Amino acid sequence: MIVTAAARTDSHAATIDTLLDREQERFLRLHPRSAQDWEAGKQHFLYGGPSHWMRRWAGGFPVYAAEAKGAHIRDVDGNDYVDFALGDTGGMCGHAPEAVTRAAVRQLQNGTTMMLPTEDSLWVGAELTRRFGMPYWTLTTSATDANRGAIRIARMITGRPKVLVFSGCYHGGVEEAHVEIRDGRVGLRNMIHPNGVDHSTVSRVVEFNDVAALEQALSAGDVACVLTEPLMTNFGMIPVADGFHEALREITRRTGTVLIIDETHTISSGPGGYTSQHGLEPDILVAGKAIAGGIPAGVFGVSQEIAERLWAIVPMVNPRVRQSAHLGIGGTLAGNALTVATMRAVLEEVLTPANFERMIANATRLADGARGIIEARKLPWHVTQIGARAEIMFMPKPPRNGADVIAGRRGDLETLLHAYYMNEGILVTPFHTMFLMCPATTAAQVDRHTEVFGRFVDLLADAGVS
Ligand SMILES: Cc1ncc(COP(=O)(O)O)c(C=O)c1O
Repeated sequence: MIVTAAARTDSHAATIDTLLDREQERFLRLHPRSAQDWEAGKQHFLYGGPSHWMRRWAGGFPVYAAEAKGAHIRDVDGNDYVDFALGDTGGMCGHAPEAVTRAAVRQLQNGTTMMLPTEDSLWVGAELTRRFGMPYWTLTTSATDANRGAIRIARMITGRPKVLVFSGCYHGGVEEAHVEIRDGRVGLRNMIHPNGVDHSTVSRVVEFNDVAALEQALSAGDVACVLTEPLMTNFGMIPVADGFHEALREITRRTGTVLIIDETHTISSGPGGYTSQHGLEPDILVAGKAIAGGIPAGVFGVSQEIAERLWAIVPMVNPRVRQSAHLGIGGTLAGNALTVATMRAVLEEVLTPANFERMIANATRLADGARGIIEARKLPWHVTQIGARAEIMFMPKPPRNGADVIAGRRGDLETLLHAYYMNEGILVTPFHTMFLMCPATTAAQVDRHTEVFGRFVDLLADAGVS
């Protein structure tokens, strides 16, 4: 039997440490050029790579990518990977999808950013409405930016200061969402600096799936909006409890709180995200990452009611006055011609119903393969699958909220597994063990994961972590 969280002993912890040392040594041997590049990168980048997120890989340093196509990446040392990380969803269309490349090349030759709309945007706006149901859209340069815009609008129309989020959430670099509940107390997430902000005045945080806590938190009438994913995907996958969405919608409506659903990750549920699949009724819907095929982009759509309340404050157009009103949203590059052209290609040719069918079938295949191993070995672990996304967690059953994740998470096993995966040619998102399928992912690539995962379980058993 593999050790459970409760039965963990110092000797198991020491064994896992030894195994990790061994995997990190193997990683160094397999990646000499990436190791060299990493040392060079540290001379010019604040946290080693062009983005500080790039340092957080379990091998000890990132691999430097040389080329990527579909669900396949080759690094500068010539190692091949099956990519289930897919840029933590930014690459969900697969790497270098032909339709996006074609559209990008065409638009690059025809003007990238002019601060003028192109006619592609008319098609994109209509398609976003058809898929997600919201009548009016705004484009941004990232999902973070879309969330910030949505929050700003919620505050403008409600006149309220606070944003409610669920503990364990992640919505990008959104100041109000940097809060969590740990040991029963509200605080800032691990390592987050308060940054001069008194979060008690701008944020409220409760546990996911907790209707009573939500009711209580919204009862004071000082919360502008609830910002949530339809199910949580950033702290392990936390499924939504039966009836929670109905309660969330009813309480937010009753208390005049704007409901923002962030589909940045859960767009992997299907062509219209989790929202259209489950008939959710957000006031504002946010998406990003994969929506323009990896070209930086975010979108948010608002309901008719939200639009009318906003127009009452900042009118659509006043022909007599040159608009000087700042909405405080978006930026120069938002909705540029290149982004719009690639977004059209994604929606028209890549994230299609047929491709989603294949992606979801492969996620099911991966989840079934991993579950088969877990069940055969009677391991106290589980697999969650939502659409084209699956996650292995080292806990016996799916968490109900962030507190369950904090209590049960096995960071040591996760790190070891991730280092092992990379040495065996598998990439998963570095922050937890989540797998995403793209249209180009093949059943053979999925089966390769099953084989590698099986060998990882053997490794633990052979090392006596049992
Ligand atoms: C649910 C969700 N929303 C928003 C974001 C922010 O996306 P970006 O970093 O592209 O702005 C993320 C990033 O992981 C996310 O998971």
